[in-house]
Amino acid sequence: MSNINIRNFVIVAHVDHGKSTLADRFLELTKTVEKRKMHEQYLDTMELERERGITIKLQPVRMSYEFDGQKYILNLIDTPGHVDFSYEVSRSLAAVEGAILLVDVSKGIQAQTLANLHLARQQGLKIIPVLNKIDLPNARTEQVREELAYLLAIEPEEILDVSAKNGTNVEKVLERVVKMVPSPKISDSANLKALIFDSTFDAYKGVIAYIRIFEGSTKRGDKIMTFAAKTKADVLEVGYFSPNLIASDSMSSGEIGYIATGLKDPGQIRVGDTITNFQFPISNFQPLPGYKEPRPMVFASFFPEKNEDYDVLKDALGKLKLTDASLVYESESSAGLGRGFRLGFLGMLHVEIISERLKREFGLSLIISSPSVEYAVKMQNGEELKIRSASMLPDFSGITKIAEPIVFIEVLTPTVFMGSVMELISTIRNVYKGTDYLGKETALLKYEMPLSEVITDFYDKLKSVSSGYASMSYEPKGMQEGDLVRLDILIAGDMVEPFSRIVPKEKAYHEGRAMVTKLKEVVPSQMFEVSIQAAIGGKVIAAESIRAKRKDVTQHMYGGDITRRMKLWKKQKRGKARMKETGRVNLSQDVFLKMLKR
Ligand code: GTP
Repeated sequence: MSNINIRNFVIVAHVDHGKSTLADRFLELTKTVEKRKMHEQYLDTMELERERGITIKLQPVRMSYEFDGQKYILNLIDTPGHVDFSYEVSRSLAAVEGAILLVDVSKGIQAQTLANLHLARQQGLKIIPVLNKIDLPNARTEQVREELAYLLAIEPEEILDVSAKNGTNVEKVLERVVKMVPSPKISDSANLKALIFDSTFDAYKGVIAYIRIFEGSTKRGDKIMTFAAKTKADVLEVGYFSPNLIASDSMSSGEIGYIATGLKDPGQIRVGDTITNFQFPISNFQPLPGYKEPRPMVFASFFPEKNEDYDVLKDALGKLKLTDASLVYESESSAGLGRGFRLGFLGMLHVEIISERLKREFGLSLIISSPSVEYAVKMQNGEELKIRSASMLPDFSGITKIAEPIVFIEVLTPTVFMGSVMELISTIRNVYKGTDYLGKETALLKYEMPLSEVITDFYDKLKSVSSGYASMSYEPKGMQEGDLVRLDILIAGDMVEPFSRIVPKEKAYHEGRAMVTKLKEVVPSQMFEVSIQAAIGGKVIAAESIRAKRKDVTQHMYGGDITRRMKLWKKQKRGKARMKETGRVNLSQDVFLKMLKR
C-alpha cells in the first residue's frame, strides 16, 4: 500500500485527563474493535491498570479511517501520564510524527501537560491541542482555552473541544490528525532501520519487538540484527496491532508494527535500539537517534521469603523486564536474608506496581527494603562508593562525605492553593528557585530539593493540600553533600535490615518516630510483647511496643480455686518470657508492602 496515507501519532496528557477514554472512542469510530467487545479503557490491558485506572504500559493500535474519499491508516500509541513513566512517553514520541495534547477542562494545564509538551516539541512533533471533558459541570473551558493558547502561542479558536466520554467532536480530532500530522517520510533503502520502542514476550513467538520502520522493509524469514546489543535473530512473523497482534506479509518504511524474533532471552532486545538487516556491513551504519537510557531514580532490595524461590524471582524479573524496559536489577545477597535482587525504579509508583505484579502474577512472597536513592560516599582512604541501600553503608567512622541526588522540581498549582503548597514545601529541605504565572490563576513554582524528599510521600501530600489540583514534574540536577545518618529499626531487639534508611540528621527523630508508629499499626501482635525501636548508631531515638495477644489460659476452668488460676497465669508468664528471649517476629510480605505505602 502507499505509505502516503499513514499517520502515526500519540496522545499525551497529564494523568487522568482522558487519553484512554479518547482512544476508546477512536477504536469505536474506526470500527477497530466491535462495539459489543468494547469495554472501557480498552488499551489498558493490565489488570492492575484497569483496577487503578492508570496506564502503565503503552499499547499501540492501528486503525483504518476514511476521510474525503481517501483511506488512511492511523497508528496510535497510547501513553502513560504518571510522573514516574515519562520514559515510556519519550520512547513513543520517537516513533511518531504527531501528538494530540489533551487537557482536562475541569483541571486545566498540569505539570505533566507541560513536561510532555516539552518532550513532544523536542521531538519536533506536530501538536494538536484538544480540550477534554467539556460535558462536566465544573468545566472551565474558556479559561483553559486561553491558557493553552497562550502556552502554545496560537489562536484560541484553533483548539478543539471534546467530550471523550460522550463522543462529542471526537471525529473532528481524527480529521485534524489526518490533515495536520505529516505523513511519514518514506525511504526504500535496502538497509532496514527500525526503532524498537517497546517489547513483550510470548511463550511461542519469543521476544516480540514493537517497532517503527524508518528505512527499508522486513518480512518473515529475514535475518535481523540489533545495532547496540548485536543480537542476531530470524524474523518469525511481522504484523500490526489491532490491538491484538495480526500477522501480515511484510512491513515497510513509515509503518508501526511488531517483529516476533523467537528469542528466549529478554535481555537480547533492548528498547531504543535500532534493528537492521543482518547481512550488510555494520561499520558505517548510523543508528536511529531519540533513545534515552532509562535512569533509575529509586532502589529497593527484594528477597524471596523462602530461599528456594530465588529462581522464581529471577525468572519473574526477566519477564517483567520484557514489558517494562525501565526496570533494572542486579543480584544481591545479605547475611540475614539470603540471595535476592536490588531493583532500580523510575519512582515510587513504579516500586508499588512492580511489587504488586510480583505478588499477583508470580505468586511470590517477598521481603522488600525501604526504597533508597543512590548516594555517593567518600571514604577516608580516598575510595568512592555508590550506595543504593542503607544496609550497604560502611561504618560512619571511615566516611568523610556523603552526597545525595538533587532534582529540579516544578510544581504547577492553581493560585488559590499556592499558600498551602508553599507551606507543605517548607516542611522539607528545599531551595526556592522562582515562580512563573500561566495566566492569572495558575502558578508554576520552581525548587531544587533532594530526590529523597520527593520520592517518599511528597506527591500524595501535594495532592491532598491542593484538593488534587497541584501537580509536579522533576528532573535530575546532580549531587550535593548532605548531613546524613543511618536510621535502623529493631523489632524484638533484632535489627530488621530492610527497614534501615539513610535520612537527614535534622529529620532523624521525626522519621524514626513515624516509622515506629506505622510499624506498631502494621506488625501483627504476638504471644509476647514486641518492642519496636528506631536507632542511630546503636542509640535508640524512638520506641513503641505492641502488647501481647492475650490467650486466656484459665478459660477452661469454671470457678475453682484462685490460687490454681494464679499458678496458671504465672506459668503462662514464664512461657512468654522464654518466647520473648528466643522469639523472633516473623514479618510477612504484607508488613513490607504496607510500609512501602507510607
Ligand atoms: P492515565 O492513562 O492513567 O494517564 O489516564 P487517562 O488519561 O488515560 O484517563 P482515562 O481515560 O482513564 O480517564 C480518566 C477519568 O476521566 C475516567 O474516569 C474517565 O471516565 C473520565 N473521563 C474521560 N473523558 C471524559 C469526558 O469527556 N467527560 C467526563 N465527564 N469524564 C471523562
